[in-house]
Amino acid sequence: MRYFIGIDASTTATKALLIDEQGDVVGVAASSYDFQTPRPLWSEQDPALWWNGAVDSIRRLLADTGVPRHDVAGIGLTGQMHGLVLLDAQGAVLRPAILWNDQRTAAQCDEIRRRLGKARLVAITGNDALTGFTAPKILWVQEHEPEVWQQVRHILLPKDYVRYRLTGSFACDVADGAGTILFDLKARTWSPEMLAQLNIPAEYLPATHEGPDITGYLSHDAAAATDLPVGIPVIAGGGDQAAQAVGVGAVQPGIVALTLGTSGVVFATTGGPYIEPEGRLHAFCHSVPGRWHFMGVMLSAAGSLRWYRDTMAPGEGFDELLAPAAAVPPGSEGLFFLPYLTGERTPYPDPLARGAFVGLTVRHGQPHMTRAVLEGVAYGLRDSFELITAAGNVTVDQVRVSGGGAKSPLWRQILADIFNAELVTVNTTEGAAYGAALLAGVGAGVWPDVTAACRRTISVTGSTRPSASGVAAYNRWYPAYRGLYPALKPTFDTVGADS
Ligand code: XUL
Repeated sequence: MRYFIGIDASTTATKALLIDEQGDVVGVAASSYDFQTPRPLWSEQDPALWWNGAVDSIRRLLADTGVPRHDVAGIGLTGQMHGLVLLDAQGAVLRPAILWNDQRTAAQCDEIRRRLGKARLVAITGNDALTGFTAPKILWVQEHEPEVWQQVRHILLPKDYVRYRLTGSFACDVADGAGTILFDLKARTWSPEMLAQLNIPAEYLPATHEGPDITGYLSHDAAAATDLPVGIPVIAGGGDQAAQAVGVGAVQPGIVALTLGTSGVVFATTGGPYIEPEGRLHAFCHSVPGRWHFMGVMLSAAGSLRWYRDTMAPGEGFDELLAPAAAVPPGSEGLFFLPYLTGERTPYPDPLARGAFVGLTVRHGQPHMTRAVLEGVAYGLRDSFELITAAGNVTVDQVRVSGGGAKSPLWRQILADIFNAELVTVNTTEGAAYGAALLAGVGAGVWPDVTAACRRTISVTGSTRPSASGVAAYNRWYPAYRGLYPALKPTFDTVGADS
C-alpha cells in the first residue's frame, strides 16, 4: 500500500495528514502556534514555525499511525495564501513573513493601481490590488525597509518555504502564485509587465507548476529532520482555498464550495480565465490544470461567531449558545450584525470596515443577537455568491458546504435560506490538507487526474434544502443589510482614521 502526506501550513497550525491509495484518512497530527500583531493592522509570523510544525507533525504522524516510512510515496503542500516570505542569497529568512490578514498596505495598493491603471491590472492579473495580496507587501518592504529589500534574492509564499526546506527547490503552484497578483491569469505564470512595473527581478520568484506536478524530492537534511526516506517526491499542491476546493471535490464548473472557517469563502470553478471587470471577486488559477476559479472572501465568518461567543458567553459551547437562536424568527426581528470585525475583502475591499449590531430594541435578547451573527455572516457570503452568479460564465448546480461553522444545522439552514440554494455536505472533513494529499496521489500516478481522484474519494453525505418561508423572509431583509455598509462607511472612515 502506498501512502500520501498532505501538509497544511495555516495561520494557526501546521497539519500533516496521511491518506492511503483509496483516499481514506489514516492519521492527522498538528502543531499549533500564534501570529504576531506588532502594530494595529499588522500581522506577521516567523517562517520557522511552519517548518518546525511540519517536522513535528510528520514525525508524530508516522509514530502514531505506524505506517512504514518507505511506503510514503508523495507529499503535497498547501497553506495560507498571499504571505510574503523574503530570503537572502543563502536562503536565510530576512524578516518575519507578512501575512494574508495584514492590512498595512492601503497606500501600496493605490500605488499599484496608479502604476498599471486599474483596468490593465485587472485585465492581466484578474484582480484589483487588495491589502491581503502579496504584491503590495513587496512594495511596502521596498519603501519602508530598503535595507531588507537590498538583501532579498528569493520571494516565496508560506507553504513554499516549507517546500524549500523539504527539497531545497524554489517552486510554487499556480493557484497560490495567482494570489500574489504578480501573475498573468491567462498564461498561468509570472507577468513580465507586473514585475517590470513593480521593480521585482524575475529571478527572485520561484518556478511555477500545476497543482499535481512534482517540484522536487526530499533532501538528505529534510529526511533526517522528518524521519522520512530521502527522495520522496514533493508535489506542487495549492494555496489553501484551491486545495480546500479539491478536498471537497469542487473541481468542475457547476460545483460551488462554501467554506465557513475563521474566514468565509465562496469558491466557483470556471472553465476559463474569466474576470469580474471591477475586480470585486478574486479570479485565480485552480489546482486543476486547465481550470480557474472565482472566489469571494469574507475575513471574519466563523471568526465572528467565535469572537461573539468569547465576548458575550465565554466558556459556553457553540451548541448551547446556538440552540435558543433557532426559536428566533428569520431576520431576528429587525436586528442585523455586520461581520467586518477585521475589515473586509469581498464585496467591500476595506481594511477600515468594522463590525456592528444595528437595529437593537428592548425586545431583543441574546438569542436574537446570536441569530443576527449567523445571519450577518450568511448575508455577507450571499454578497459574494451574487457577484459570482452575476459575473456570467458560472453555473451553480450544487453548493458544497464545509468548515467548522458548517457543523451547525441551524447555520446551514440559514445559509440555504439566504442563498436560496440546496447545500450539501461531503464525507471528507480535513479540507485543504486532504486536497493536498489527493494532489500528491495524482502526482504519483495513483489517480489519472484531479477530477478522477475526487470522483473516487469524495461523496455527498447530507443535504439542507431552502425553506419557502425562510427564503421569503430573507429576501425581504437582505436589501436592508445591503444598505448598512454604504450608510456606515463614512463613520468607519472617521473612526479608522482616529484609532
Ligand atoms: C484566501 C485567503 C485566506 C488565507 C487563509 O484568499 O486570504 O483564505 O489563505 O489561510
